[in-house]
Amino acid sequence: MNYNKKTIMDVDVKGKKILLRCDFNVPQNKETLEITSDKRIVAALPTIRYLLEQGAAVIACSHLGKPKGQWKENLSLAPVAKRLGELLGQDVIFAKDVIGEDAKAKAAALKGGEVLLLENLRFHAEEEKNDPAFAKELASMAELYVSDAFGTVHRAHASTAGVADHLPAVSGLLVAKELEIMGKALDDPKRPFVAVLGGAKVSDKIAVINNLLDKADTIIIGGGMAYTFMKAQGGEIGGSLLEADKMDYALEMIEKAKSKGVNLLLPTDTVCAAEFAADAEPSVHSSMAIPAELQGLDIGPETTKAFCNATVGAGTIVWNGPMGVFEFPAFAEGTKAMAKALAESGAVTIIGGGDSAAAAEQLGFADRITHISTGGGASLEFLEGKELPGVACLLDK
Ligand code: 3PG
Repeated sequence: MNYNKKTIMDVDVKGKKILLRCDFNVPQNKETLEITSDKRIVAALPTIRYLLEQGAAVIACSHLGKPKGQWKENLSLAPVAKRLGELLGQDVIFAKDVIGEDAKAKAAALKGGEVLLLENLRFHAEEEKNDPAFAKELASMAELYVSDAFGTVHRAHASTAGVADHLPAVSGLLVAKELEIMGKALDDPKRPFVAVLGGAKVSDKIAVINNLLDKADTIIIGGGMAYTFMKAQGGEIGGSLLEADKMDYALEMIEKAKSKGVNLLLPTDTVCAAEFAADAEPSVHSSMAIPAELQGLDIGPETTKAFCNATVGAGTIVWNGPMGVFEFPAFAEGTKAMAKALAESGAVTIIGGGDSAAAAEQLGFADRITHISTGGGASLEFLEGKELPGVACLLDK
């Protein structure tokens, strides 16, 4: 995958009308529609500010939620337009539609230094189908396409890929930063390169483990997916998460690690409980001998120590997926210790979005991590080494 793509710094944006794809898919309070985290809006500000300073007219667009081609009032981007205006300190004009009369008239009248936000792209089913006619209509409002929606670069949709057939396409500053940091970590990491993988399911991480076994020096596997590895090696895992159809794969990965000389670390002890509940009574057991009536909910103290030690002296650490049920304080210790180890490692530290990003934030270590990706699914596919349609469509440098 080629990450060396042109950015807004490589092309003339002065006075241009720009279609800017953002990822304004923000969490909202279901009743009041109040935005509960504006991180993704804040992440788009450097690009928007730069374009406005250059006298460009910015036509921003995004999806919000999964309306599946239906017009849903509760998934309108209007609250985002308001919040973006507050953050920018200037009015953001809002279009009541996407490629309709209102959007087209407002885009045509938009002057340099002004921002227009179109309504939710996914109100049109054509968006997710990457419909060429819809992409052409979107593109017709602008002279240049800028992709700054890292969270959606793994989607081949009209606004993330299709529009690039009709406009010169470059990345914004956020996408450029994500590609530079994560691209370097995968292609030319400062070594030793340690990957910490967790989360509930092996099936979510199959391609990531496989890809990283070709690149990392050490791979640490914790979280719910570790139990499948233990069971595959003949362990007893009680009622812990198991993907029986992935046991052969787990053994294959253990073998691959051996043949490649990659240090693959698995838990040796596990914090267990009788129920999946915040107030369940924790007890520690060998990861290979979890009693039948218990289930594993976190890595144990001995494992935590070994995993943290394995990050000492690392040049690069990539982390994706929590080590346990960090939402329950009694089972958050492993994840917390990992986040602390990353924060104190002195390595280039990268956290893939989603749960591990939430864990680092919730546990108070986020500001000591080199880079927390704004993409959940996108950063996972990046680590899998997959071609990302929203990146592939951009002009090469
Ligand atoms: C995300 O929240 O991960 C991105 O905005 C992509 O959203 P999607 O999974 O609905 O495509």
